[in-house]
Amino acid sequence: MKPKVLLYKPLPDDQRQRLATHFDLAEFDGFHPDNEVEFLTALRQAEGIIGGSGIKLTTEHLAQAINLKVASTISVGTDQYDLDYLARRNIPVMHTPGVLNETTADTLFALLMCTARRTLELSNMVKEGRWKHTIGPELYGTDVNGKTLGIIGMGRIGQALAKRAHLGFDMKIQYANRHRNPQAEQAYKAQYMDIDTLLAQSDFVCVMTPLTAETEGLIGAREFALMRPDSIFINGSRGRVIDEAALIEALHNKQIRAAGLDVFHQEPLPADSPLCQLDNAVLFPHIGSATVETRHKMIICAIDNLIHAMSGDLSKNCANGHLLKE
Ligand code: DGY
Repeated sequence: MKPKVLLYKPLPDDQRQRLATHFDLAEFDGFHPDNEVEFLTALRQAEGIIGGSGIKLTTEHLAQAINLKVASTISVGTDQYDLDYLARRNIPVMHTPGVLNETTADTLFALLMCTARRTLELSNMVKEGRWKHTIGPELYGTDVNGKTLGIIGMGRIGQALAKRAHLGFDMKIQYANRHRNPQAEQAYKAQYMDIDTLLAQSDFVCVMTPLTAETEGLIGAREFALMRPDSIFINGSRGRVIDEAALIEALHNKQIRAAGLDVFHQEPLPADSPLCQLDNAVLFPHIGSATVETRHKMIICAIDNLIHAMSGDLSKNCANGHLLKE
C-alpha cells in the first residue's frame, strides 16, 4: 500500500502524476471553511503533507495529524509551521532553498529600482493622462548606481542581491547577519556591521531574514528613526519581521523616502490598508519567487524532498534537521 499524502496546493498535471505514483493522494485546493471537515479528516490519516507557504497549519491542526511522518513545503520559508513542535514529534519539515535565490533577488532588485526611480507612480501618471509637461524635480527619482545597500540577512538570497548590486550597479554592500559571510565579503566586498550602524549608513536597506521568534518585529519605530530621510526600505522576507504600523508612520511622515514591500502582516493585503494610500510605497503581492520557471523548480524540489524524506533520507533540504532526535 502506498503511504497516504495530503496535497493542499494545486499542481501541474505532470507533477501531480509523479506524486500519485509514489503516494495515495488526498487532494485539496487549499484549506478553508468550505473544506475544513474533509481536510481535517485527510490530515488525521496523512503520513505526509505537501503544500505552500500561504496556508498556516497551526499546532492545533497538526496535533490532529497523528500519523504524520513528513511535512514538505513548496517554499523556502517555513514559518507557517511551528518547527519546534514538529521536531518534538520528530517530524522533519522539508523546504526548497536554493532554486529560488536568483528569482527572488530579481524581485528585490525590481522593488529597489521601482522605489528609487518612482516607476509605478510615474507610469500611473502617464496612463491616467496626467502627463502634461516635462517632469520637474518634484518627480525626479534617486540614483541606484554607486549607492550603499545594507542587507539585513546575508543568506543565499541576500548574497544573490549583493551580486546584482555590486557587480551590476557598482553599489557598496554592507550587511548584518547572525554570522559573518566570508564569501559575500570576498566576492562583493560586503562589509559586516551591526544593524543600527547599517540602518544609519545605508541608502537602501533590504531585509531578507527568515521569520523566527528572534526576528519577529526586528525593525520597528526605533530602527526607522535611525534611517536617513533619503533612504529606502525594502522587505522581501516576511511581513512580521517589521512593525508595519511603524513603517506606515515613517513613510507618512517622510522619515524615510520610500518603501518597497513584497510581504505584509496580512496577506492578501486588505485594500483599506493605509499602505495603499501612500505614493512612496511600492507593493507587490508576495511574488518573490513567482515565475513560471522557478515555481516549477520549487514544486519538483518539494516533491523530491517528500519522496526522499518518506524513505528516511533527510540529507538535503530539511529545515528542522538540527532539532530532530537522532
Ligand atoms: C518562499 O518560498 O518562502 C516564498 O516566500 C514563497 O512563499
